Amino acid sequence: MPDPTALRDLAVSLARQAGTLLTQHRASDLEADTKTTPTDLVTVMDGAAERLVIAGLRQARPDDAILAEESGVRSGIGPVRWVVDPLDGTVNYAYGIPAYGVSIAAEVSGTVVAGAVFSALDGGTYEAVRGGGARRDGEPLRCSTATELALSLVGTGFAYSASRRATQGAAAGKLLPRVRDIRRMGAAALDLCAVAAGNLDAYFELGLQPWDSAAGALIAEEAGARTTTIAFDGDHIMVAAGPGVFDALVAGVRELYDVVDDI
Ligand code: IPD
Ligand code: CA
Ligand code: CA
Repeated sequence: MPDPTALRDLAVSLARQAGTLLTQHRASDLEADTKTTPTDLVTVMDGAAERLVIAGLRQARPDDAILAEESGVRSGIGPVRWVVDPLDGTVNYAYGIPAYGVSIAAEVSGTVVAGAVFSALDGGTYEAVRGGGARRDGEPLRCSTATELALSLVGTGFAYSASRRATQGAAAGKLLPRVRDIRRMGAAALDLCAVAAGNLDAYFELGLQPWDSAAGALIAEEAGARTTTIAFDGDHIMVAAGPGVFDALVAGVRELYDVVDDI
């Protein structure tokens, strides 16, 4: 069994390095090269960040498998698989909104045991080892103690497909009168870290990919939040919330999406 703490340390180191690359290049490239469009910059930079992470994983742990958003699957030998989103919050990155980050998780035999998320919002890195709590730059994290959904600040996000967005928008519209407010920050990994830190009471989103949620969901759980996925329309809805509002949010999301039977 690989040491989850060592996997966490590697994830933290590479998330920070990739995050620094993204942050520094956004500033210098956009200032120095007026021909750089935000879209080109994102395409170049998420590739560059991913290559940095993969090279670091390959060097430190050459036998491990990797699932990375931009380049797909690399098979490995043994039980460890890394799940990498080199730039979560691409639209924010393109527009100069600093809510973006890097998410790296380590699975052992299919279970996420360690993860790290670099946040460009404050330059901090969130991390967790399964069973060992969650921290931001060494400071322990605790999720919200909210007990009423009506007083809860709830994060969500929207997919890129227009038809999916119509469904998601309708669901968010139905939820809005029932909660304190809704936030759409634009980076799922950071949303889950916000649940971990109590900056959101809860979060839900339809259609996340493994690299969006693998590290963040572990960090939220290790900060005391509860998480689940609800099957919907061949996909799933991720829910993460402080324990005092989790059941109410799950029931609410099932109702919003008319989930009859997700077994
Ligand atoms: C997206 C962000 C966004 C979420 C989308 C994701 P990307 O990831 O996390 O907040 O709503 O579902 O696809 O494309 O910025 O890596
Ligand atoms: Ca993402
Ligand atoms: Ca991405």
